[in-house]
Amino acid sequence: MPNPTAIEQLEAALTAVDEIATADADRLTQLRTELLGRKAGVVTKVLRSLQGLPAAERRSVGARANEIKTAIEAALDQREAALTAAVDQARERDRSMPGRPSWRGAVHPITAVVDEICDIFRELGFTRVVGPEAETEAYNFTKLNIALDHPAADMQDTFYLSPGIVLRAHTSPMQARTLERFKPPVRIVVPGQVYRRDAWDPSHAPVFEQIEGLVVDEGVSFVDFKAAIDFFVRRFFGEDTKTRFRPSFFPFTEPSAEVDAQCHICRGAGCSTCKYTGYLEIMGAGMVHPAVLDNCGIDSELYTGYAFGMGPHRIAMLRYGIPDIRLLFENDMRFLNQFLE
Ligand code: DAH
Repeated sequence: MPNPTAIEQLEAALTAVDEIATADADRLTQLRTELLGRKAGVVTKVLRSLQGLPAAERRSVGARANEIKTAIEAALDQREAALTAAVDQARERDRSMPGRPSWRGAVHPITAVVDEICDIFRELGFTRVVGPEAETEAYNFTKLNIALDHPAADMQDTFYLSPGIVLRAHTSPMQARTLERFKPPVRIVVPGQVYRRDAWDPSHAPVFEQIEGLVVDEGVSFVDFKAAIDFFVRRFFGEDTKTRFRPSFFPFTEPSAEVDAQCHICRGAGCSTCKYTGYLEIMGAGMVHPAVLDNCGIDSELYTGYAFGMGPHRIAMLRYGIPDIRLLFENDMRFLNQFLE
């Protein structure tokens, strides 16, 4: 007599679901498989066995059987929902649970140094601009008074993308681009990445950051230049930091200078960071060469200016005592976390 047995079996299954203890998640999962499993589930098997009944009987018993099956599914679902809600609630109530730490984001030390430097120059009226990293030979070299037979224009030193097109080797091309586009007075700082054919080592990278500065106006003198750089050095390295200007050479400036800031670690006494000189070289600079102004259509009889270029990677290394430039590229969290504020 399969018919009452079938219904009885299903009702027993429903009772089993009703009897699960509210908090018994394991039993709930287990019972769902035991009852509704597609191959060996009790309910599945019982329903399948109904196919052996005579048609009339199958219809009535089948209808009832399906009702109970639906009830079993609903009961399982309802218990599951109640269980999840109970767990959530318990979690909410348990204030002794340890808090989950969340990841903190922060700007990369190089980005922070670039922003800080540009902000200092903003106080002096400089506008922050950016330019292309793929440049023509004209902007990278010739407009800046660098002849193409100069060693800097050599394939050994500069990445060529195609004949006449390079990955800029410095941010100085933006001097020419700006002077061609805007009439003086011009006062800009240009942060950006530059590229050189250098192998990775503790103090070299084939790509690194530079910040270019350019001021062109009527009557700009070397004194204005020294005042601006001195202001920057005091702001960045500390108010009593001395600045030193040494004669140098760059094709796009005349006269040219290299600028040193008093070592902020030993305060000029001499230490390993400044190689016992008391000073750290922080930028190349000078008065804009008249040829550069003329190349860009600016009257070099009327206008003068100064320019400078510095390397935030180097400056960050000096400031934080970072011994290897590669640390600033690897994004090792153990290194970067030291710069969280
Ligand atoms: N462009 C130079 C370099 O990459 C840096 C530099 C020196 C920039 C002197 C200047 C400057 O604007 O006046 O080595």
